[in-house]
Amino acid sequence: MSKAKVAVLISGRGSNMAALLYASRLPDCPYEIVLVTGDKPGAPGLALAEAEGVAVVRLPAYTPKDKGQFYGALHRALERAGVEYIALAGFMRILPGDFIEKWAGRIVNVHPSLLPKYKGLDTHARAIEAKDAAAGCSVHVVTAELDDGPVLGQVEVAVLPDDTAETLAARVLIAEHQLYPRALADYVMRDRTPEAKLARVREIAMALPGAEETTSHGMPCFRVAGGKMFCYFTHDHHGDGIVAIIVKTSGPDEQAQLIDQDPDVYYRPAYFGPSGWIGVRLDTPDTDWDHIADRIELSWKLVAPRKLLGIREF
Ligand code: GAR
Repeated sequence: MSKAKVAVLISGRGSNMAALLYASRLPDCPYEIVLVTGDKPGAPGLALAEAEGVAVVRLPAYTPKDKGQFYGALHRALERAGVEYIALAGFMRILPGDFIEKWAGRIVNVHPSLLPKYKGLDTHARAIEAKDAAAGCSVHVVTAELDDGPVLGQVEVAVLPDDTAETLAARVLIAEHQLYPRALADYVMRDRTPEAKLARVREIAMALPGAEETTSHGMPCFRVAGGKMFCYFTHDHHGDGIVAIIVKTSGPDEQAQLIDQDPDVYYRPAYFGPSGWIGVRLDTPDTDWDHIADRIELSWKLVAPRKLLGIREF
């Protein structure tokens, strides 16, 4: 399975970035760090990432007036590096709403408190002040509301009687380094397993009028109301190791043209004869799900009876 491409955004020391990076070098880690960047070109963590051979982009520090420019440049740098997920690791800026929207569900953050307690700053001092028995850290998905998105994992850290904000922060940081790589790995795995891909294909296929799910030769597949098949889901069929959908094209000419155009994505499926069915791989590094949805819909159109075609607006 290809590894998820992750960018880490930092503002300072970058010890969580280092924890993510070193964890990514362990066998079987499902993500790789393809870029480290942030809002402070002199952040010590950037020099560390560079020394470790990771690509670093030093964007100029921004003031409120060039904020839009900064996030535009950041977005382009992330896209150029083929980034799929953004991990905030001590990135001490509030991301603008339109940036979060572009990366919805693909930004995670580590925060030094047991959320929903103590959003924002001075989390350790606030935990001590409140005489909490335990402090800790959380990894969560970033949404428009500050430190508020779904929590992916937490680790508790005992507060000692003589703790200061600094001594407590030091132990919470150790907990962050354990939690973050694990929570990120689990998160990227959620949509990379064949089961998760099938769930996504199912959601697309079953939204089409008259769609029904059935099984054929051990493959989950989708047909139009008791009639013709329009999409098969194949996972390691006959030991080929491939995860893909098999959908209809307009015929052998289009099939040949697509394979010629992008042989890494398209293939001629075995056992389907010369009928124009095509395999579209779901196990390439950057699956384009909009394109997958289009191919499934086109295939459905090729077999759907006239009365169902009328239901859907094209
Ligand atoms: C970490 O403790 C992280 O949880 C915190 O900044 C520190 C960065 O340390 N982040 C926040 O407070 C974000 N709200 P690091 O640069 O060594 O990873």
